[in-house]
Amino acid sequence: MCGIVGILGTHPVSGDLVDALRRLEYRGYDSAGIATVENGHLGRRRAEGKLRNLEQRIAEDPLKGLTGIGHTRWATHGKPTETNAHPHMSERVSVVHNGIIENFRALREDLKAKGHVFDSDTDTEAVVHLITEEFNRRGDPVAAVKAALPQLEGAFALGIIFAGHDDLMIAARRGSPLAIGHGEDAMYLGSDAIALAPFTSEITYLEEGDMAVLRRLGAEIFDAAGQPVKRTAVKSQASSLLVDKGNHRHFMAKEIHEQPEVISHTLAHYIDMAEGKVNFPDLGIDLSALSRVTISACGTAYYAGLVGKYWIERYARVAVEVDVASEMRYREPPLPENGLALFISQSGETADTLAVLRYCKEQGQRIASIVNVRTSSIARESDVVLQTLAGPEIGVASTKAFTCQLAALASLALALGRARGTISAELEQELVKGLLEVPRHIAEMVADERPYEKLAHDLSKARDVLYLGRGINFPLALEGALKLKEISYIHAEGYAAGELKHGPIALIDENVPVIVVAPEDGLSEKTVSNVQEVAARGGQIVLISNGKPDAAGCELLAHIKVPDAHAFTNPLLYAIPVQLIAYHTAVFMGTDVDQPRNLAKSVTVE
Ligand code: G6P
Repeated sequence: MCGIVGILGTHPVSGDLVDALRRLEYRGYDSAGIATVENGHLGRRRAEGKLRNLEQRIAEDPLKGLTGIGHTRWATHGKPTETNAHPHMSERVSVVHNGIIENFRALREDLKAKGHVFDSDTDTEAVVHLITEEFNRRGDPVAAVKAALPQLEGAFALGIIFAGHDDLMIAARRGSPLAIGHGEDAMYLGSDAIALAPFTSEITYLEEGDMAVLRRLGAEIFDAAGQPVKRTAVKSQASSLLVDKGNHRHFMAKEIHEQPEVISHTLAHYIDMAEGKVNFPDLGIDLSALSRVTISACGTAYYAGLVGKYWIERYARVAVEVDVASEMRYREPPLPENGLALFISQSGETADTLAVLRYCKEQGQRIASIVNVRTSSIARESDVVLQTLAGPEIGVASTKAFTCQLAALASLALALGRARGTISAELEQELVKGLLEVPRHIAEMVADERPYEKLAHDLSKARDVLYLGRGINFPLALEGALKLKEISYIHAEGYAAGELKHGPIALIDENVPVIVVAPEDGLSEKTVSNVQEVAARGGQIVLISNGKPDAAGCELLAHIKVPDAHAFTNPLLYAIPVQLIAYHTAVFMGTDVDQPRNLAKSVTVE
């Protein structure tokens, strides 16, 4: 995790470094810092906590260098204190790092024995002293980094500057993403193109194992074998305007409200609107003989995968296995011939998901990914990329990326169904029509948030909340619980409604709200029975349904009405109330909605 940035500029860069870090804060916000080369010396400012603390520190004591690096941290090794904040530095070398150096203990001991003094508990400081050691020995910064990199084990994206070298920055990537931005007489470095959006749209993505030597007039890139290589520059679409809250109080609110639009964009990408048919890219595999779909993802993307399982098994009649990537990567399941492996990721950089992708590739699976960032590692290593067009998602709790993943999965299920002859043309048209109505329904649903504001008041008093769902709505119960605990810090669990009697019912009393996702879809009567079991034990019920509140047959704490729609599209619609419940509860409780404690948006370490 962590975000890194670097600028070789034409004017003092500290303000621009902080600006770029603000765009990277989604990658971590435990501490932040910058370092610049000023009059041949390295200067540094760091602060614990959010970026505003760093800004204050810089305002009190400015840095004037034209060459600098910056970092926003999600702590892995060492507490989130100022001493552990990046950049780390010696007198001659300063480093920002994203990733984990696995052999840092051995390096540290070795370097200490050579007289290097360590200030922090971080793995990164070993990189600083290793490069310093090589620099002292070789006298040349580029040669020093070239000699140091093969000694590092683990994952990293590094930005490095040197005392006495105002026109030099070195970047290296192994396992963590890194992008170079080309400006006019200026060069930039960032964890992603969004960070660099205000400065340049001309971006070169470093490949696995690359090292780059940046000077104001350009970059020289070397591949993993140390050979000079050309990496083409592309025009980045990360507009600076997109990372703005608009009229909303939080990014999360803005992203919830953007859903009608971004789901439309995503559906338009996969559906031929005029024909009312799915128009899906060729997956490059014989779909009629498809043996299995293996889905792997983390967090909210995993729950999208679970919904995908219900859709694909039902409409394409092919077995689907779904597992969280952190488990699948070490389970190393046997995979059948002619199998499709599908990876779902907003960022496209989640370390565990990428590891499973590589395993599945080795096992001869066809690799497809549903990603929001087209230039990400997962996208680049896939045979087929199924993009979601959600735009940059900044709030740490995923909202619009999730529903766009669902839109892509629903389209995929229909594409597979058509190719395998398991759905008729009429059914395909009917389901596509249902999908195309989703944006309109969601626009209606987000237009009135008052019921959620009222409910937030009650939920904020709860210590535990249960979410129940059945069938394809079960993953929505899981997602609802995840959203609530992520941003309000209230303990919440999602359960398959049928599992209630096998344990969680023991928790129920008048202090435990139970949120039931229960569209009238043929299974709702069974869920209603579960609701009554809760009511009989004094539980407080919040019913989310398209039916009437009295269908529950008991008193409700609240009824959230969802528009009537085709049952096929229910997961897309029912995602909205679970997002709004979590959002308003968190706002009511005064938590940091967009940047909840201990979390980060992009988990690039395992
Ligand atoms: C983190 C984020 C979640 C996200 C998960 C997977 O935990 O906080 O919102 O669902 O990572 O991320 P990905 O980028 O792979 O979708």
